[in-house]
Amino acid sequence: MNVVIIYDSQYGNTQELAHTIAHSLSHYETVHVLPVRRAAEIDWDRLQLLIVGGPTHEHGMTDSIRDWLDSLPPQRLVGIHAVAYDTRYHLPRFISGSAATEIAKRLKKLGAEMPLPPESFYVTEEAGPLADGELERAERWALLTPAGVEA
Ligand SMILES: Cc1cc2nc3c(=O)[nH]c(=O)nc-3n(C[C@H](O)[C@H](O)[C@H](O)COP(=O)(O)O)c2cc1C
Repeated sequence: MNVVIIYDSQYGNTQELAHTIAHSLSHYETVHVLPVRRAAEIDWDRLQLLIVGGPTHEHGMTDSIRDWLDSLPPQRLVGIHAVAYDTRYHLPRFISGSAATEIAKRLKKLGAEMPLPPESFYVTEEAGPLADGELERAERWALLTPAGVEA
């Protein structure tokens, strides 16, 4: 399965998770990790699983992720599996908001198959670090995606 992880990250926590998820899947799959500013490098013809991660800013996704999703043609993700994750504060979602929830809605609208609900990983402060155990949780979460399940 050809897997691409697109992430945005201001302080590095969402990026660290992208690499952790990639490492967790790399036992089975070829995984390309790309910052959203390099999303044009996606090989759409080969892509089977798209993982999109972003920090939660002002209750939703960052401008960079939104601009990229806006740039994709309708139906771009038909026939492709996609999952979304975010980083945010460990608060009820109605207080913190969640980038992943917004991203997942957009991925679905673009035609993606969504095998998993959006997932959040928690930071302890604005700049991080991630809360204890979150990297390990991300490793396990990665294995629930089609790339992990198929292995
Ligand atoms: C401008 C800004 C707005 C933020 N708004 C929220 C928010 O609404 N909800 C929340 O849970 N965290 C919020 N945060 C905290 C971010 O989620 C946190 O900085 C991020 O998860 C860290 O990820 P990164 O290291 O990949 O940038 C905000 C951070 C910044 C810088």
